[in-house]
Amino acid sequence: MNILSVESSCDETAVAIVRDGREILTDCIASQVELHRIYGGVVPEIASRMHIEAIYGLADQALERTGLSRQDLDAVAVTYAPGLIGAVLVGVNFAKAAALALNKPLIPVHHIRGHIAANYLACPDLEPPFLCLVVSGGHTMIVDVQDYTKMRILGTTLDDAAGESFDKVGRVLGMPYPGGAALDKAAQQGDESKYDLPRSRQGTNPYDMSFSGLKTATLNLIHHAQQVGESVDIPSLCASFTAAVSDTLVPRVVRALEETGYRKVAVAGGVAANSRIRRDILAAAERLGAKVYMPPLSLCGDNAAMIGSQAYYEYLAGNVADMSLNAYATKSILGETL
Ligand code: KG4
Ligand code: ZN
Repeated sequence: MNILSVESSCDETAVAIVRDGREILTDCIASQVELHRIYGGVVPEIASRMHIEAIYGLADQALERTGLSRQDLDAVAVTYAPGLIGAVLVGVNFAKAAALALNKPLIPVHHIRGHIAANYLACPDLEPPFLCLVVSGGHTMIVDVQDYTKMRILGTTLDDAAGESFDKVGRVLGMPYPGGAALDKAAQQGDESKYDLPRSRQGTNPYDMSFSGLKTATLNLIHHAQQVGESVDIPSLCASFTAAVSDTLVPRVVRALEETGYRKVAVAGGVAANSRIRRDILAAAERLGAKVYMPPLSLCGDNAAMIGSQAYYEYLAGNVADMSLNAYATKSILGETL
């Protein structure tokens, strides 16, 4: 089954064609990052307009690159939530028009389910059930993936997402938006024991976590140094900050593996590209005898192939939409409107 899939929830316009949920035939992306960089973050209105400009060309490019014709497509899938509402609407309207014109099923996909599915593309042997640490710019959660379309959230961040904290700290340190990748690179040259930053304490739900205290402590440290004219050892601060994020995430994943008895853990989302977090998850899983699944860096960030992968399983589960499909800025991974 060849699925034409569309992703436009934030600042990447992407169109892919994925076969049977596991094989990427093509994955076309037009990134707007450079454009938003001058503003230090994504400007929603600009993002929507850029999606409109890019999406038709990307769909043509996807067909050209694969040599497929429109008749070879079996369904159209799209991220319908969550994201910047104007941006998501562009993808949803494009997908509705394409499905109608092709007379093919329309499959709505939750963006975070797509991030999890990036692992199906990278790891042919991965099948549910497994545990997934989702760490993106807007979401941080530990998910029990019971089946391809059946999930249970074990814990989430109670405030900022991990990626949001990386971006905020990166921005104050003068790194280009989004700061996560630059901060990761700088951290590799630093001494993580130099700055003592707080770790998220355990709350009522042991899997829940918080990053706002860490973010505020890091920003206060930078501002204080600026006020008293001291210089900050940027690589070491980046290393200390990343260690604190990892020390918040990894013990919760370990606990979840122990309590569920699962021996398979996947990571997903843009922050899953972080070298320190990848290393720590691998080491922790090895101690428990668990297998780790990680998408390559190219599939950690937003892309349409991951949407095409999840769409296949949503289709098999009967989760198709009609022309009344709407876009949602927020919606839980379980499909509940928030
Ligand atoms: O999943 P994603 O592409 O978009 C959302 O759905 O939010 O994630 C983007 C986030 C940004 O916050 C970015 O700074 C972060 O992923 N990121 C990283 C790294 N690469 C991207 N964070 C830490 N280390 C990295 N290497
Ligand atoms: Zn994403």
